[in-house]
Amino acid sequence: MNSRLPGFYKLDPDARLDTVLEAAGLSPEHGAAWRDGGLPLELADRMIENVVGTFRLPTGVAVNMRVNDRDVLVPMVVEEPSVVAAVGNMARIARAAGGFEASCEPSVMIGQIELRDVADPKACVAALEPQIERLICLGDARLPELVGLGGGIRGMEIRTLRYDEPGEKPSDLVVLHFFLDCLDAMGANMVNTVAEALAPELEAITGERVGLRILSNLADRRLARARVVLPPELLGDARFTGAEVAEGVAGAWRFAWADPYRAATHNKGIMNGVDPVVIATGNDWRAMEAGAHAFAARSGAYKPLSTWKVNTDGALVGTIELPVQVGTVGGTLRMHPTVRANIALLGVKRAHELAEIIAAVGLAQNLGALKALATTGIQEGHMRLHARSVAVHAGAEGPEVARVVVALVAAGDFSDTRARAELAALRGAGT
Ligand code: MEV
Repeated sequence: MNSRLPGFYKLDPDARLDTVLEAAGLSPEHGAAWRDGGLPLELADRMIENVVGTFRLPTGVAVNMRVNDRDVLVPMVVEEPSVVAAVGNMARIARAAGGFEASCEPSVMIGQIELRDVADPKACVAALEPQIERLICLGDARLPELVGLGGGIRGMEIRTLRYDEPGEKPSDLVVLHFFLDCLDAMGANMVNTVAEALAPELEAITGERVGLRILSNLADRRLARARVVLPPELLGDARFTGAEVAEGVAGAWRFAWADPYRAATHNKGIMNGVDPVVIATGNDWRAMEAGAHAFAARSGAYKPLSTWKVNTDGALVGTIELPVQVGTVGGTLRMHPTVRANIALLGVKRAHELAEIIAAVGLAQNLGALKALATTGIQEGHMRLHARSVAVHAGAEGPEVARVVVALVAAGDFSDTRARAELAALRGAGT
């Protein structure tokens, strides 16, 4: 499969879909899932409560991506203009340098069982420690199917914490962490099942009272990483040299490293790439967001999730590392026809393959934003895309759209009034 589809953006949505189906060798049923918007009401009604309808967002396909020497077409569900285009543009640059390298740790989620208001934390830990092996067996016994497939609990850790908020009565907590390899599932249900099953055992062993029993979304044993190396000759354009772009991006990263106000926006740019793929594949984007931002703050200061540096050859080197808690099997994935089509398009079977693509897309998206910010500014590209929707809203059709866009960009005026005036002038001139 070749993800390089020149002129893809110029096609209409039907022709784009046909191109994607052909390029990825997908069936007309997959095509129908995208064309129909995918989710029948009766399925929606089984997914959540009090359903009154469904809600549509655009699915765009980012082209040009190459991850671990494999071309991949990336479905992205998102409302923000520029996001899909930026990934495709950065992926086009990156593929000339071999694309993105990505890797991922096993799908290990953390479960937490809290023992609350513990009078003697040391004694509590001493009681728990010799029971760890038995607790692992008990936990695994709750998930025979997962264990049969090679997953299961990989270990446990006992943590002591102190609640000592100024002005309040302090208390001690002992928290058992267990590490569950969920294989190709996101794993929330499995983790919570084990947490609830083990809780009474912990009470029996320690004589203490259990508080919460739930997974942690700070999934820092489930990190995905991606890396790209871009020689300067791939980065320049008519206005900026490659060296200027590389140094501009590295400088933008240093700003994010030094300043949490900037790091938050930097990481938002990364999540612009990550979330649309997480949503397209039926995964829990709130979990992804919570994990990413908690991980970004793990040192006690909020930091960027990526790094961008210029190496001694003048190449721009980008890396990203973040928890990616996604699955390729499970509830929503089984039910939602468009999710199944999106996973088929990505050509992934295993959760780690999906996680690697997500990390690479996050890095590509981040590069797109930093490159624009470090050169022309973000508004030029945004406004060009925004101008399209203004032109269409003002009534432009077919070839008129591009002409109105050019006029709006040249005027730097993206108002509806201006768009209508330009359209009227165009039509008045009879051209
Ligand atoms: C906008 O959705 C995302 C950016 O603000 C990201 C960034 O500033 O790096 C452009």
